[in-house]
Amino acid sequence: MTKLAYERPLILKMNAGLMNKFGTRTEYEPVKQIDGMPVKRLIETYGSPVFVISERTIRTTYRNALRSFTTRYPKVQFAWSYKTNYINAVCNIFHQEGSWGEVVSGFEYRKALGNGVPGNQIIFNGPEKTTEELELAINNDSLIHIDHFEELYQLIDISDRMNKKPRVAIRVNMDTGVYPMWDRFGFNYENGTAWSALTKIVASGKLNLTGLHCHIGTYMMVTNAYTIAVNKLCDLAWNCKTQLNTVIQYIDMGGGFPTANDLRGAYLPAKDTIPSIDEFAEAITSALLNYGFSTAELPLLILETGRALIDEAGYLLGSVLANKRLSDGRRATIMDFGVNILFTSFWYEHKISPAQDFTHHTEDTVLYGPLCMNIDIVRQTITLPLLNRGDHVVVHRVGAYNMTQWMQFIQMRPNVVLIDEKGQDHLIRSAETLEYIEQMERMPEYLAPKPPKGA
Ligand SMILES: Cc1ncc(COP(=O)(O)O)c(C=O)c1O
Repeated sequence: MTKLAYERPLILKMNAGLMNKFGTRTEYEPVKQIDGMPVKRLIETYGSPVFVISERTIRTTYRNALRSFTTRYPKVQFAWSYKTNYINAVCNIFHQEGSWGEVVSGFEYRKALGNGVPGNQIIFNGPEKTTEELELAINNDSLIHIDHFEELYQLIDISDRMNKKPRVAIRVNMDTGVYPMWDRFGFNYENGTAWSALTKIVASGKLNLTGLHCHIGTYMMVTNAYTIAVNKLCDLAWNCKTQLNTVIQYIDMGGGFPTANDLRGAYLPAKDTIPSIDEFAEAITSALLNYGFSTAELPLLILETGRALIDEAGYLLGSVLANKRLSDGRRATIMDFGVNILFTSFWYEHKISPAQDFTHHTEDTVLYGPLCMNIDIVRQTITLPLLNRGDHVVVHRVGAYNMTQWMQFIQMRPNVVLIDEKGQDHLIRSAETLEYIEQMERMPEYLAPKPPKGA
């Protein structure tokens, strides 16, 4: 008998999804409507993919958050963080509810003005503010939050020239026990630069120091970080009062509260691990109330909450383009939306539900987007029923940062639809067209396409 030729064994990796000791969760309840509006109809009317925003959810989430703070503290003001979602219809829902505007660029500042926000209710944050933008903000009596010494000196110079005394605050960064520290914005507390900035502002006599600001991070999972931050800002406020004879009128705690979106690689689902808004409110307001200010002296508490107020209200509806088997046997499903419009899939494991009935067979699947780019992965592994070409899905909690960080890359950006409180749909941002994309381009004469010869 001849000896058989040796064949190298082939070892295949088992892909059973991420296990934890509680077992994998499967999320396959069909979601066929949003606020009473059938998903199928939305896609028929507005195309696929399409972003859908629930006005009812925005208003309920906002009112709940406001109540969490106002029941614990007498002076509370929310300022809508434009960068989280600056589609005007969305901003105006927050403004109708009483939110001021919080902006981080001249572009956002003008958007807020365009939305009818009074200048004295716009908070101007961010490291880049041009001379013209600062002049505009000064003329409008906006709250200018200074980010660095260059801006401070520039502002003193402009105020002197304009003979006006703008209302200013400084952004303070600090060690709150959460690492890495967000210390690139504003003035550091521990090394004394924050105090140095405050003394310079008051000594200049040109600026009206009214507030203190911080934004300690985003998707913060511990309330204690806010307690520490409040105490450090209160220390500064106290020193301003006792050493600089200046009363700090407001303390702005920025944003940072998390949503129920699961972080990539997290061991437990976010719903089981994130503190509620009530818990954050308890930490922040208790620290303020216990610091030692008299009731009359209590500063206004400003919150620039973004993510936690809008994420839940946003949905992305999409459709299956194709299924295939990868070389290692895994099932792959290609969707008509990718990281181009779902930027947050880089760090979230979004909940994704089929939008129609299905059989009980499920399989671990890789979800790809439609881009011809290897990075375009919407979910590395998700247990889904077997979806077919043309089937629809609903991606949950996409309201924050997607409709501002989306990119026009390979594909164009889709329609955005608002469902109002009566269940009526409204187009609030049109899908992009080739003409829209190309209208900013200019063609040098010598590169212009020539009409065919003889035409
Ligand atoms: C200054 C400032 N305020 C508020 C926010 C909103 O933060 P979040 O969406 O985490 O609530 C941000 C976001 O980065 C910010 O930079």
